[in-house]
Amino acid sequence: MAQKISLTRYLVEQQREEGHIPSQLRLLLEVVARACKSISQAVNKGALGGVLGSADSENVQGEVQKKLDIIANEVLIEANEWGGHLAAMASEEMDSIYLVPNRYPQGEYLLLFDPLDGSSNIDVNVSIGTIFSVLKKPEGSPGVTEQDFLQAGAQQVAAGYCVYGPQTTLVLTVGDGVSMFTLDREQGSFVLTQENVTIPADTKEFAINMSNMRHWDEPVKRYIDECLQGKEGPRGKDFNMRWIASMVADVHRILTRGGVFMYPWDKREPNKPGKLRLMYEANPMSWLVEQAGGAATNGRQRILDIVPGQLHERVSVVLGSKNEVDRVTSYHTGV
Ligand code: AHG
Ligand code: MN
Ligand code: MN
Repeated sequence: MAQKISLTRYLVEQQREEGHIPSQLRLLLEVVARACKSISQAVNKGALGGVLGSADSENVQGEVQKKLDIIANEVLIEANEWGGHLAAMASEEMDSIYLVPNRYPQGEYLLLFDPLDGSSNIDVNVSIGTIFSVLKKPEGSPGVTEQDFLQAGAQQVAAGYCVYGPQTTLVLTVGDGVSMFTLDREQGSFVLTQENVTIPADTKEFAINMSNMRHWDEPVKRYIDECLQGKEGPRGKDFNMRWIASMVADVHRILTRGGVFMYPWDKREPNKPGKLRLMYEANPMSWLVEQAGGAATNGRQRILDIVPGQLHERVSVVLGSKNEVDRVTSYHTGV
């Protein structure tokens, strides 16, 4: 039987042979993976660990925080602050950036995360996850400011997520394709289970929250309406629909078997560009999807080209199988 390759070995070999990972980044990815293992344990315990339910607090975006949102945020901070690989962190659950305390050495990377994605699914035992994005701190400036984080997604040096579902799976890119690692609970380590993940260019599956249909813009309505017409319609094929309400789980399905995921701008709150957050949801997922041969736009432009104006900026998202994303984008742009 072929030898199992642990995440540690994979990262060491990437560093040594491929030259993709400097040692600080390798440490960072190991630490994030260790934090995800610990979050996975908490998720698994559920009611037995007293981790379900709300925390009686709100985050900067006005969303009620669940206990696990806060636990996952703390786990990620505690795991990452002392290793010397980071200059600062930012999270969906923190208003402003978190500087590495002075008592620890400062590193050259910036880490952003959505500690617990799919919070509405925690209490109902449906897949949830952690999403992360890694940037380099711009050279030259001594301290760290929020401005240092405001880099386009194309500048990411690593991105990934960990989905806590029937299996716990860590999915990673450092700009050299996408690899998946499954948590082996007996060994306590992530084991490489798929390399060179590829999203088929065509699909017959879409993911969107249909309850918002009446609020959508015309191009989105047109695209979904054409899918719904099936074999008899202009697309000439029947489509299936899935909506897990955990982006991490919807994207995992798309990386596994293709599909298109959309959380478009809609008329409920016209001044908000979308629901999902650019820097720690859309950017890492868009890079993973592109690295797997798919595409990701906000309906008009490539998500990874957007230069953020603020840390918690929101964005409209269309990502997945390339031909479908191109079609939705062309319905918006008219070209
Ligand atoms: P979070 O739990 O981090 O706030 O993110 C939830 C997001 C995303 O994961 C999911 O696709 C979407 O919100 C679901 O939104 P609806 O409940 O509006 O369908
Ligand atoms: Mn989220
Ligand atoms: Mn979240």
